[in-house]
Amino acid sequence: MNPSLRYAAVVVGAGPAGIAVVGNLLERQLGGKIVWIDPFFDGGRVNRKYREVPSNTKVSLFHAYAQAVQPFRDLVKKSPIPNAFTMMAKLDENKTCSLHYAADMCRALIDGLADQVHQCRGIVTGADLAENSSAGWTVRIRKQGSLQNIEVVAPRLILCTGSSPTLLPIPVRELSMQRLDLDTVLKPSTLATTLPMKAPLVVAVIGASHSAILALMNLVELARLSHSQLRVKWFTRHSLRYAECMDGWVLRDNTGLKGLAAEFAREQLEDARLPQSEAGRFIEKIDCGGHEKELSAYQRHLPECTHLVQAVGFTRDPLPKLSRSGQILNPEFDYESGGFVDGEGRVLRGLYGAGIAFPERIVDPYGNVEYAVGLYKFMKFVKRVCPMWTAS
Ligand SMILES: Cc1cc2nc3c(=O)[nH]c(=O)nc-3n(C[C@H](O)[C@H](O)[C@H](O)COP(=O)(O)OP(=O)(O)OC[C@H]3O[C@@H](n4cnc5c(N)ncnc54)[C@H](O)[C@@H]3O)c2cc1C
Ligand SMILES: NC(=O)c1ccc[n+]([C@@H]2O[C@H](COP(=O)([O-])OP(=O)(O)OC[C@H]3O[C@@H](n4cnc5c(N)ncnc54)[C@H](OP(=O)(O)O)[C@@H]3O)[C@@H](O)[C@H]2O)c1
Ligand SMILES: *[C@@H]1O[C@H](CO)[C@@H](O)[C@H](O)[C@H]1NC(C)=O
Ligand SMILES: *[C@@H]1O[C@H](CO)[C@@H](O)[C@H](O)[C@H]1NC(C)=O
Repeated sequence: MNPSLRYAAVVVGAGPAGIAVVGNLLERQLGGKIVWIDPFFDGGRVNRKYREVPSNTKVSLFHAYAQAVQPFRDLVKKSPIPNAFTMMAKLDENKTCSLHYAADMCRALIDGLADQVHQCRGIVTGADLAENSSAGWTVRIRKQGSLQNIEVVAPRLILCTGSSPTLLPIPVRELSMQRLDLDTVLKPSTLATTLPMKAPLVVAVIGASHSAILALMNLVELARLSHSQLRVKWFTRHSLRYAECMDGWVLRDNTGLKGLAAEFAREQLEDARLPQSEAGRFIEKIDCGGHEKELSAYQRHLPECTHLVQAVGFTRDPLPKLSRSGQILNPEFDYESGGFVDGEGRVLRGLYGAGIAFPERIVDPYGNVEYAVGLYKFMKFVKRVCPMWTAS
């Protein structure tokens, strides 16, 4: 093995979580270089898919993310002005903003870190842990534009591989409805050109969390402005849930509606508002709480729909093939330490995760369990666990 392919850590994924991990590893000054792998190095899904989405976190939390570790502070300071950080600094820190500000900040961090790590454009296809040696992980990378895999070796492998919208089977069979990608519906500029303007359309929206409310918002905007024959059937199985400020903490911080989505839901979508609201001119709400009710609601209403978008959460993207001394592993994430265990509950040395695919589990003062998803939440988690990751 070429000794130059030995690294102190391998970080997979250059979204907000991978960026936070690299910043923390650099701050802790491992003896050796970090190799960072991503096919794009453009800031992950926030940049590729959600630039037009309004944030549900305050601007101040994006600042906090960019100021959380010394390597970030150094590069923010030395970036020629204007830059993504100064653009963000012009916004009201107590308000939310369009995610393109956060996306540009992520890209600026990636570019600013380029000379301190080895950024490798490609995909990690697999990794093997040498069981009885100190070698650690041998990681296979398919470099962009190359058919050959290269291998690197490191004691630590950190997965920040992200998640994509969950797809569930359509609950009623043999319908000729077209699926709309949630990412498309969350991007008004693409949504406007994807849906025909001069045809009667009925779009089924399934769900009632952030993504679903933004989907409704975007579809209502379209119906109002350009697609006058567009109507929406909104299938929801629970009432609207909002984040609430408590004494020093936030109830439903990770599951409740915030920002513009919360405002829109409160003012236009609540049962007491919908019949009179602007949104109510286009949206028919279909309550499908409870299994029996759910199926009959779908059977009754879906056949009238021309399109369907599911906003029912996010699912981990496929992981690289992981093995231990050649034996396939099915690692289980430990939401507390950021590590992984094997099928027998034994710790998998040197394997860690962060981000929307591998978030921290939080228990609030009322005992509710939530998963901490958001740029600054990833940062806080990584900051807490990184000392353990680098200790051994
Ligand atoms: C619609 C939406 C809005 C959100 N709004 C906010 C918000 O306002 N504020 C906030 O703080 N958070 C927000 N979040 C939550 C969170 O910040 C984002 O989901 C964020 O994109 C998650 O970052 P990540 O790094 O975990 O994953 P991703 O952004 O998905 O990045 C993962 C990266 O890993 C790469 N990758 C995957 N597999 C491999 C492989 N095998 N080899 C190499 N590379 C690989 C991918 O190409 C990608 O670039 C939002 C999430 C969604 C879905
Ligand atoms: N910036 C923004 O405004 C924004 C926008 C979108 C997403 N996000 C972030 O991205 C992450 C994911 O959010 P998300 O809103 O996509 O998903 P989510 O928070 O994971 O919520 C999934 C929702 O889908 C519902 N659901 C699941 N299966 C269903 C089914 N079979 N039928 C009907 N409903 C079903 C769930 O209801 P039950 O509780 O009943 O299961 C829940 O309301 C969050 O961290 C969020 O903050 C942010
Ligand atoms: C934001 O809120 C904090 C705390 O409430 C306050 O101190 C600060 O002045 C506010 N900033 C702006 C720009 O309003
Ligand atoms: C590693 O060591 C264990 C216990 O000594 C042994 O059972 C196992 O076969 C070894 N694995 C390899 C790949 O050598």
